[in-house]
Amino acid sequence: MTKKILLVGDGAVGSTFANDLLQHTKVDELVIADVVKKRPVGDAMDLEDITPLVGGCNVHPGEYADAQDADVVVITAGVPRKPGETRLDLVNKNVGILKSIIQPVVDSGFQGIFVVSANPVDILTTLTQKLSGFPKNKVIGTGTSLDSARLQVELAKKLQVPVTEVNSLVLGEHGDTSFENFDESTISGKALRDFSGINDQVLAEIEQDVRQKGGAIIEHKGATFYGIAMMLTQIVSAILENRAIVLPLSAPINGEYGIKHDLYLGTPTVINGAGINQVLETKLSDAELKKMRNSAEKMQEVLAAIDL
Ligand code: LAC
Repeated sequence: MTKKILLVGDGAVGSTFANDLLQHTKVDELVIADVVKKRPVGDAMDLEDITPLVGGCNVHPGEYADAQDADVVVITAGVPRKPGETRLDLVNKNVGILKSIIQPVVDSGFQGIFVVSANPVDILTTLTQKLSGFPKNKVIGTGTSLDSARLQVELAKKLQVPVTEVNSLVLGEHGDTSFENFDESTISGKALRDFSGINDQVLAEIEQDVRQKGGAIIEHKGATFYGIAMMLTQIVSAILENRAIVLPLSAPINGEYGIKHDLYLGTPTVINGAGINQVLETKLSDAELKKMRNSAEKMQEVLAAIDL
């Protein structure tokens, strides 16, 4: 079986993802589409130069209709945040862009899996499923996977432990209502709250730093892309290789955490070649459960105001 990807959106995130993906997994065909037509032409030329080193791949510019026989359509297209903007500030512009993408992709006869990273990601993932009418397990958003990586980094620095041993998640909205599951977090099995130097104030500072890190990166270099591109690579590689992984992703909520709304939100999610295999309702303390529900309320409020 040949493996084909359509990447929609060839900005900093899209092109970094394309480069990462070719180096991490075997792809037979990578089609790059963008409203700015010249950019994918140049990127395909640039990327094909690495194909002799990664086992070959037919990289070329294309159209949304190329989704027809693709395994995965990755959507990074959207207006990115400017310094000082929240992800939710992007909603109206990026919903319009999303609508212009989903219809032609569906019309092509695409039957694969949508993977969305454009912001606000929980909203746009929810709308990708609604607009496409696809089964919910075939639509996935990057969710709080990047936030969780940022949290691992901060805790590893603070506690001077290997970053790979930190078992701590950011959940809920990929945005300002996100929260950490500090009450259940462990490092090599030892409870985070049992480490010396850890107290509520320190954790609140870490939470704040993690939440603001995307904005801080944008302040310094105008965009964030290495982290999110690697998260997309993890997700798409797992799908193409039919390998099960768990990440905190934007997943379809079906009563988990007592949430009544029909939307996608960041929670640990098992994915494999068929898309979402299981949405895990992770154990949360009462205070954290309130934060999860608050994130859902905020997302519902934004969704309710969108005129599709
Ligand atoms: C960030 C973007 C992907 O947090 O939202 O870096």
